[in-house]
Amino acid sequence: MSYNIALNFEDGVTRFISCNEGETVLDAAYRNQINLPMDCSDGVCGTCKGSCHQGDFELGDEYIDEALTDDEAELGMVLTCQMVPSSDCVVEIPTASSLCKTGIATVNATVTEVNLISATAIELKMTADEDVGFLAGQYVNIQVPGSEEVRAYSFSSTPGSCDLSFLIRNVPGGLMSSYLVGQCKAGDILNLTGPMGVFYLRQVLKPVLMLAGGTGLAPFLSMLEHLKNSELNQPIHLIYGVTHDDDLVGVAALEKFAAEIELFSFKTVISSTESSHPLKGFVTNHMQDAPIQEGNVDVYLCGPPPMVDAVLGYFHEHDIEPNSFHYEKFTPSQVAIGEHVA
Ligand SMILES: Cc1cc2nc3c(=O)[nH]c(=O)nc-3n(C[C@H](O)[C@H](O)[C@H](O)COP(=O)(O)OP(=O)(O)OC[C@H]3O[C@@H](n4cnc5c(N)ncnc54)[C@H](O)[C@@H]3O)c2cc1C
Ligand code: FES
Repeated sequence: MSYNIALNFEDGVTRFISCNEGETVLDAAYRNQINLPMDCSDGVCGTCKGSCHQGDFELGDEYIDEALTDDEAELGMVLTCQMVPSSDCVVEIPTASSLCKTGIATVNATVTEVNLISATAIELKMTADEDVGFLAGQYVNIQVPGSEEVRAYSFSSTPGSCDLSFLIRNVPGGLMSSYLVGQCKAGDILNLTGPMGVFYLRQVLKPVLMLAGGTGLAPFLSMLEHLKNSELNQPIHLIYGVTHDDDLVGVAALEKFAAEIELFSFKTVISSTESSHPLKGFVTNHMQDAPIQEGNVDVYLCGPPPMVDAVLGYFHEHDIEPNSFHYEKFTPSQVAIGEHVA
């Protein structure tokens, strides 16, 4: 028996390792050629401290209080030299991946389909040469063929398969957009580096509010596909906002999720005044009806920077502090990812 452990490094890089029954995360990482920070490996120095909020594990009882206090353990902190997983886990490592003699993984993938599903959205499907381990919500960098440039894209497919899909905004004149619309065809080989990012679905222990803007729907499609196969006892509500009627893609998939996942509901919002859509305005105009439960909610927010900033402003103005808050900004170059856990 072995478990799949996602090591999330401080620089956003995620590496997956297999951990044998009874093995510590530190030993498993070492066996997988990843040198996590450590000094004593005996639960004495505290150098190997990380945190784990997803998965089951034994903390061990050999460590001393100076290395990990009860309060720290209560907050989900762990010593990787002592932690023995008993299920798949996600472990946050507060160190850059390069310092652990590892780095970002690279894989080639073959395009199987590229579809312009509306004037503003492209669906890209490909099959990777090997399984790209990722957490639902994460992204990869895709190199634009014929250039050294890369662009970040969130997986819209669910983890665990070599078949990958992406939902991509068609930016007129954009480098990747022009390649996808003008040249890309089945059989093209694309180079992917990743997975990356701290925007991934945590264990669902509270009601979840998902807020998507435009192609910011992509990571939620991945999360919902993942949730479809898990036991769920908390409500999940998604508000999905776009600019024009044409931009509203993926609704059939959402309707399917709503039929398949009993506790999932969603609504769509269009900001253009010319639209005849029943819900007009921005996502923030419809937040008052959202199940925010006085902050007893985990919020996931993804979309273009102005939309993300508007929602952050909404929570601030209304003095609402969600149980946890995770967001991803689709900035034109891959710079700003963020997370705040209250
Ligand atoms: C972490 C992360 C994840 C991302 N995931 C996705 C995703 O799943 N789907 C997706 O569609 N995008 C995503 N993006 C954005 C994506 O990486 C590219 O920036 C976008 O696709 C534009 O690339 P391009 O090469 O076509 O245009 P570029 O050549 O980069 O841009 C051309 C021009 O258009 C402007 N521009 C770029 N994007 C926009 C925009 N959205 N609106 C208006 N003007 C713009 C640029 O400033 C520039 O002037 C993500 C970004 C980040 C940081
Ligand atoms: S390496 Fe010293 S406590 Fe883990």
